[in-house]
Amino acid sequence: MAVRSRITGVGGFVPSRVVTNHDLAAMMDTSDEWIVERTGIQQRHWAGPDDSPSGFALEAANAALTAANVAKEDIDLLLVATLSPDHFFPGTACFLQAKMGISEIPALDIRQQCTGFIYGTSIADQFIRTGMYEKVLVIGSEIHSKGLDKTDAGRDVTVLFGDGAGAIVMEATDVESTDDSQVFSTHLHADGSGADALWLSSPGMAHPDGLVTHAHLDRGDQYPKMNGRAVYVNAVKRMSEGIHDALAANEVTIDDVDLFFFHQANLRINEAVAQRLQIPAGKVYNTIQKFGNTTAATIPLGMKEAVEDGTLQPGMLVACAAFGSGFTWGSMLIRW
Ligand code: UT7
Repeated sequence: MAVRSRITGVGGFVPSRVVTNHDLAAMMDTSDEWIVERTGIQQRHWAGPDDSPSGFALEAANAALTAANVAKEDIDLLLVATLSPDHFFPGTACFLQAKMGISEIPALDIRQQCTGFIYGTSIADQFIRTGMYEKVLVIGSEIHSKGLDKTDAGRDVTVLFGDGAGAIVMEATDVESTDDSQVFSTHLHADGSGADALWLSSPGMAHPDGLVTHAHLDRGDQYPKMNGRAVYVNAVKRMSEGIHDALAANEVTIDDVDLFFFHQANLRINEAVAQRLQIPAGKVYNTIQKFGNTTAATIPLGMKEAVEDGTLQPGMLVACAAFGSGFTWGSMLIRW
């Protein structure tokens, strides 16, 4: 017998406002044809003015707690992955903790963008394996829509992103065999030499002239900037490598895996990874068509969808991989 972590509940949330490609074409110089052909995205959800990432996180966390049948008072650690925090500081996990009404447990923000959920799951897994904590909430929550450039200048980035949140409850479990539900492994990586290939420059303390200035605002430094091609090429390479890591560490093959969850940045990226690894299309669970790229929320939101529509069943061997800004990437293999 060994102590491992397992996912016991999953939840998700998206705001009710649906923004189609046609809606975006009314705001900027883009088209449904371009977006669908280049990315696979048909629509995304956008937050309302009073929404916050911690508010979305609360919705997803409550749903995950209900699914796991765990009381919020029994959670030992709160992890929130987000690139769109409520405020510059303190962390969104602290705002969430106040909203949940559970004080004194540690509340930690994870700043690994699209890979944030994999980093969070890995951190939770290490704490559970060492016996320090027994129940951990891992949440990815994002509101991109309030921070995107909705003019022609921002069209390459703005059409890609959507708002939403996803959450899992992870609990300690005694496992006897690989058939038992558990997290087998997580692999984390980063390459900071690609940091400015997808980034948001301002506000930032590295600026000699201050956190945010009129010059920054005039240049649009408060909006994300991306070298789309560099991100695309690296995403295909690194998510493929991540799946290799996960399979090799556990001595299993592509054929042994029942379902793959890849980060959802571009349908073409995921098709290229599947082709490279010879994964049958039916084993890859894609949600980008209706949610766009929800960054750290993507994988748990996808898991929640897959549970609800019956695709994700107990006992399945599941591989996940993500790649994003940083560059950061990672993977994990779990028995659901
Ligand atoms: O989680 C990580 C987050 N990001 C990603 O993973 C994104 C990775 N990159 C991509 O998915 C792709 O690079 C994009 C979808 C962003 C772009 O697709 P692409 O096939 O690489 O297009 P491109 O950047 O080479 O641009 C082709 C053309 C350009 O026009 P010209 O120079 O050929 O006249 C762009 O100006 O498409 C134009 N374009 C657009 N046209 C209509 C760029 N964005 C848009 C747009 N609508 N939204």
